[in-house]
Amino acid sequence: MSTFGEALNGQVAYEFGASQQYIAIAVYYDAENLPQLAAHFYRQAVEERNHAMMMVQYLLDADEDIATPGVEAPQTEFSDVVAPVALALAQEKRVTEQIVELVKLAREEGDLVGEQFLHWFLQEQREEVASMTELLAVVERGKNDLLSVEEHLSRAGGGENALEAGAPPAAGGAL
Ligand SMILES: [Fe+2]
Ligand SMILES: [Fe+2]
Repeated sequence: MSTFGEALNGQVAYEFGASQQYIAIAVYYDAENLPQLAAHFYRQAVEERNHAMMMVQYLLDADEDIATPGVEAPQTEFSDVVAPVALALAQEKRVTEQIVELVKLAREEGDLVGEQFLHWFLQEQREEVASMTELLAVVERGKNDLLSVEEHLSRAGGGENALEAGAPPAAGGAL
């Protein structure tokens, strides 16, 4: 397996880990009776799962070995309603750095096909860091009036992400 293939296998685990963390956050908000915040993170969890499966499809196409990873237990307890979004933003920033490192590695190896595959993820991370930054501001502003946060999210809606149209194919199909 190439070094890049190995590193991309590692990223599959990070994406599944991100998915599991978002499920934990969604469940936390669901239990706090905040259905819009819960729905937002249930959706994010599915997106992260899809990212993992896009990478799996790439590895299949590239005839690389694939080790379906286990996932570290996510954080399930939070000090207040702002903490999960702060954690989510930190996670998105970390993933951005991980993708950047993968791009550098692909470039070092002269793997332009692998590098091109990752370009979509760079755009996706820009979008996700921006939207999570905005959500953190909304939740911080509304932490004493959570219904206003819920209303903000219901107005914002799911909003079809323009990036989704150009997303790489996911193994087994995106959910
Ligand atoms: Fe992701
Ligand atoms: Fe993400």
